[in-house]
Amino acid sequence: MIFTVAIDGPAAAGKGTISKAVAAYFGYAHLDTGLLYRAVGAKVLAGADPMHAAQTLDPTDLENDALRTPEVAHAASQVAVNAEIRSALVDFQRSFAVRTGGAVLDGRDIGTVICPEAQAKLFVTASPECRADRRFKELQAKGMDVSAAQVLADVIDRDKRDSERATAPLRVAPDAQVIDTSDLTIEQAVAAAIAFVQSRLPH
Ligand code: CDP
Repeated sequence: MIFTVAIDGPAAAGKGTISKAVAAYFGYAHLDTGLLYRAVGAKVLAGADPMHAAQTLDPTDLENDALRTPEVAHAASQVAVNAEIRSALVDFQRSFAVRTGGAVLDGRDIGTVICPEAQAKLFVTASPECRADRRFKELQAKGMDVSAAQVLADVIDRDKRDSERATAPLRVAPDAQVIDTSDLTIEQAVAAAIAFVQSRLPH
């Protein structure tokens, strides 16, 4: 069975948590596509050529906790503006989306560009303050030395670059269900996502 769930939205809206929970609930595979851009960004920070980094990306490059830092997120959103880099990462994502047994992909352009045919599309969002507050707590819990004000500034800066870029900007797909998680608990947000995906399954 091929069934693709596309989950898009801005930084720290809760896409990761919701995607993992949806994938676990339905038994689908999950790909956090942000990790592809983060892995390329990390290689660029280490001195690599961006295009070469994208073309030679290996799935094992994604299994790295060091990809979760604000510096790597910043580098990711810079390489993500480049149309050639984005297109070098398309095949990997599209093959993943149509694997047998169902797939959940989360990112910025999954429902709009990577998988416009996805059977279920969600757009997960929340207010910038709320997202920055969650990301701040996440980074703090990992022992990173960050300030709340800096995290909010980073989130706003990245949202702007992701939404204003010419290629595959962050947009709500016309057929996406929007979930604003600002006033929802994780359980409520996950339940809303699962109910929507369930409603899109063939009966
Ligand atoms: O976890 P968070 O939402 O903060 O970020 P992420 O999903 O790991 O994505 C990091 C950066 O990669 C984003 O700010 C985007 O610039 C870029 N990205 C993208 O352009 N397209 C995607 N499908 C996924 C991420």
